[in-house]
Formats: sequence, structure tokens, C-alpha cells
Amino acid sequence: MKKENFTIKVNLATNPYEVRVGSHVLHSIGNELLNLGISPGTRILVVSNDDVATPYCGSILKSLESAGFLAKQLILNAGEKHKTIQTISLIHNAAYEHQLERDSLIIALGGGVIGDMAGFAAATWLRGISFVQVPTTLLAMVDASVGGKTGVNHPNGKNLIGAFHQPKLVLIDINTLKTLPQREFCAGMAEVIKYGVIGDSQLFKSLEGTNHLNSFESLGEKMILEIISNSVKAKADIVERDEKETGIRAVLNYGHTFGHVVENLTGYGHWLHGEAVSIGMVAIGQLSVEKGLWSSSEALRQTNLLRKACLPVKWPKLEHNSVIRSLQGDKKVRSGKLRFVLPSAIGKVNISSEIDIEEIKNLLNLLDRS
Ligand code: NAD
Ligand code: GLY
Repeated sequence: MKKENFTIKVNLATNPYEVRVGSHVLHSIGNELLNLGISPGTRILVVSNDDVATPYCGSILKSLESAGFLAKQLILNAGEKHKTIQTISLIHNAAYEHQLERDSLIIALGGGVIGDMAGFAAATWLRGISFVQVPTTLLAMVDASVGGKTGVNHPNGKNLIGAFHQPKLVLIDINTLKTLPQREFCAGMAEVIKYGVIGDSQLFKSLEGTNHLNSFESLGEKMILEIISNSVKAKADIVERDEKETGIRAVLNYGHTFGHVVENLTGYGHWLHGEAVSIGMVAIGQLSVEKGLWSSSEALRQTNLLRKACLPVKWPKLEHNSVIRSLQGDKKVRSGKLRFVLPSAIGKVNISSEIDIEEIKNLLNLLDRS
């Protein structure tokens, strides 16, 4: 079968870079870096975790060494509960041990947790060194690895500590998805469905027309490449227009405001990030229906598609005051006003600050009964 490789450019004024997508391309990382003008002899720290490092780190290190780089790996514990400022210290310690200098590089090999943390460590080591994303989850391929948001959680809120720091390159090897557990694959589909709702009704319809959405095998390589290509293009387009989220980029947070509350209040790691986003999309969709902005039939199409991807859609039992406190601590609060991304059609959303606490309380009562 012919293997398709493609490249999507993220055309930022100061930090443009490419997202290169293919199958069995990990071994090309050394040459990719040389092509970027990174000199042989450059010190590189590859940050990963066991599930990913065992099958893939060997190939990366071999490629880097063959290209003349001085590479070392750092293996961290996996999972959202380790996405903390303490783990950043471990990366900084390894950066010190490996004598990373201003022109050195960090490579993030893993899912969004590794990508966000390695990126943040790169943003802060020596006031900022370069980094490269090699995402190995569907979620990180379609979302987290692109756009330069890096950071860690704070006990009181998701991703409250962070920096914008764009990667030099994103290298996506779809073959790595073959070892990804099914639950993780499905979590990634939540962000794909998100792109459908916020702007790409064709992608949404194409997913509706696909029988199974829950694994690499059931979707097949062609469909996976289409999904990644459409998602990365959508993300790149928005990031190019609003790199630092002063406006339109907020639409990428569709479903995330309630999703972050679910992650924070149920304990990081109980629901996977994508699962919490799925629950959050249903919740905010319901609010849009309650406000008369979205039809209940389209909201049902969203719920059905999320269900088809084996994602949770039911709001968990959460104390209402805690939900409201958590919402008020979210990054998206501006001048004390909550801001939400509300759908008005499949493929169309609006950002609104016209939502008061009473509406949230009514919604929570409704979600508890649903
Ligand atoms: P994750 O990084 O926790 O990875 C999920 C699990 O899969 C881990 O246990 C990991 O070890 C394992 N894994 C990863 N790749 C594998 C592979 N190929 N084979 C086998 N196992 C593999 O989860 P995630 O869903 O990738 O990322 C979620 C994180 O991404 C959240 O912290 C979220 O806040 C963040 N995020 C960031 C952005 C952004 O723009 N920076 C966007 C979306 C999400
Ligand atoms: N995942 C939201 C963003 O990158 O802006």
C-alpha cells in the first residue's frame, strides 16, 4: 500500500514551523533536525514515559546519534496526575545534568502530558530553548502538539501555570497509534469531534458516516490521515490568526471549560482529558440549547457522535458550589465574567460572556437529572 506523507505549515510571523505527518517516520528525526539547520554535536534531551519510550525511544535515539547529535533520554511517570511543577523540576535537573545550553534542544516524545511539560521545561530552561514535538497519542497529534501552549496543572485548576512556546517542528508518526490503548484513542476522538462542531461540518458528517470510531484498525490509515490533516489544518489556521489567544483562539476551548472542572473536581486522571472534554461538550451544548441558540436535534447529533466514539457524555455528580468556584478560577474568566464557546450549528460557534451564575445553576440541575 502506498504510504502518504504530508506537511502542514503553521505560518506564524516570528516562529513558523512545519507539522510533518507520515507512517514509520520516527527514524527520520535526525535528518529532519539537520534539515532545520540544527548542527551535529547539539545536545538533545528526549523526554518521554515508559509506555512510549519502550517501543519508540530506541529508534529516535539511534536516528539522533547517526545524525551526530548528543542525545540522552529522560523517562517520566505517565499520566495527568504527574503534570505538575514538581515534574518540571525533574526535567530541569536532567537539562542541567546533560548540560543543555542555549542552542540545545528538548524533544517531547509522548502524549499531551509529556508535550505540555517538555515544552514548558524548554520555555523556562535558560529563559527558553528550542523544542520539538513527537506526539504519540491521537489527542496530541490533532491538538496538543500544535500551537505552542505548554504548561502544568495547579492543584486548584487545569493548566494554570504555563507559557506560549512554539515547537521548531512537529513530527507525527501515525504508526505509533497502533500501540495506543483504545480508551486513549477514543479520548483523542473528542478533540477531533470538537473540530467538527467548531468549524468543520464536513468532518463532522464524515465521522457520522463512519461505522466505528474507536481504533486505528477500525478507521484505517486513509481515514486517520484525513482526520489528522483536517484537524491540524483547522488548528493551524486558528493559531495563525491568534497565537496568544486574545480572541478567536478561544473557540479551541469548546467543551474545555466544563471539561477542566470535571478533571479538577474528580481528581486529575480519573477521567482522561478527552473524556472530560466530551462531557464538557455535551454540557455546554445543553446550555446553548437552553438559551435557544442551538437546536436540540443538533445537540443530540453531537451526543450520538461522542457516544459512537465510546466517549462518556453523562455529567458526573459534583457539588454545585464547587463547580461554580472551579469555573470562576478558569483561565477564560475575563473581568470576573465567565466566557463560554456556544454552538449555534454543527460547524459554527460563538464566544459569549453573557452567561450568569443563575443560568449555570439551572444547567447543573438539568444535567443532574439527565
Ligand atoms: P497522555 O499524555 O496522558 O497520554 C495518555 C497515555 O497514553 C499515557 O499513559 C501514555 O504513556 C500513553 N501513550 C502515549 N502514547 C502511546 C503510544 N503510542 N502507545 C502506547 N501508549 C501510549 O494523554 P493525552 O490525551 O495525549 O494528553 C492529554 C493532555 O494534553 C492534557 O494534559 C491536556 O491538558 C493536554 N492538552 C494540551 C493541549 C495544548 O494545546 N497544549 C491541547 C489539548 C490537550
Ligand atoms: N487546546 C486549546 C488551544 O490550543 O488553544
